[in-house]
Amino acid sequence: MILQLKNLEASYGLSQVLFGVNLDVRENEVTCLLGRNGVGKSTTIKTIMGLLKPKAGQILFKEQEIGGMAPNKINRLGVAYVPQGRQVFPTLTVHENIIFGERKPKGNRDKVWTLDEIYNLFPRLKERQNYMGNRISGGEQQMMVIARALMQNPDLLLLDEICEGLAPIVVQELSEIIPELSRQGVSVLLIEQSAKFALESSSTCYIMEKGAIVHQDETSNISDEVFRKYMGT
Ligand SMILES: Nc1ncnc2c1ncn2[C@@H]1O[C@H](COP(=O)(O)OP(=O)(O)OP(=O)(O)O)[C@@H](O)[C@H]1O
Ligand SMILES: [Mg+2]
Repeated sequence: MILQLKNLEASYGLSQVLFGVNLDVRENEVTCLLGRNGVGKSTTIKTIMGLLKPKAGQILFKEQEIGGMAPNKINRLGVAYVPQGRQVFPTLTVHENIIFGERKPKGNRDKVWTLDEIYNLFPRLKERQNYMGNRISGGEQQMMVIARALMQNPDLLLLDEICEGLAPIVVQELSEIIPELSRQGVSVLLIEQSAKFALESSSTCYIMEKGAIVHQDETSNISDEVFRKYMGT
């Protein structure tokens, strides 16, 4: 396990949002956290990233407790985060937006992401490399933000609703790229509201309701009935 959440609780001030979340991310796999609006998905990822202090419970990254550490420290340990809503630097080119994230991996590692590999994964970004960040499509911007996160050479990539507002064809492309990342040695925790995207891109799936996990299984084992019950789809 690269990441383990054990009975994780978190609050915004007096209002508690997470009530004992248990979730594991296996190495070199895509794990999906699914749930409707407002159930606590982003809060979970923000707590992992150190943007919110856990109220109780544990966050183990490679067996090390990271709960409550500063975000930049967690980032340096090998966790990269793509927040909900695209963070594009409009006055930088696509190329500059991507290399902005560049960081050598921690310790000895076989895999180091190069710009060429990233452009192989996202050929459209290569074509657009000299465009300004705000002059490309929403889908290309999302790919650019993911590319920037990969330049940090993370071991664990946290993706918060990367498909929100994107055209179906782009979503299709992303559903092929995400599993490819895990094959290339990046473990992924994917937050989603779309059961379809989860089905196409993850191997394990957790479903959240009201700040707790209510269902978990290999993604391919989850029935339509379960998706309908918790996701309404
Ligand atoms: N900064 C904040 N301060 C107070 N309450 C917040 C804050 N951010 C989120 N919340 C509340 O916490 C709950 C969980 O929010 P969260 O953003 O984790 O949901 P989510 O599952 O990511 O939803 P969505 O799918 O809409 O992104 C919601 O009730 C929300 O209103
Ligand atoms: Mg959210």
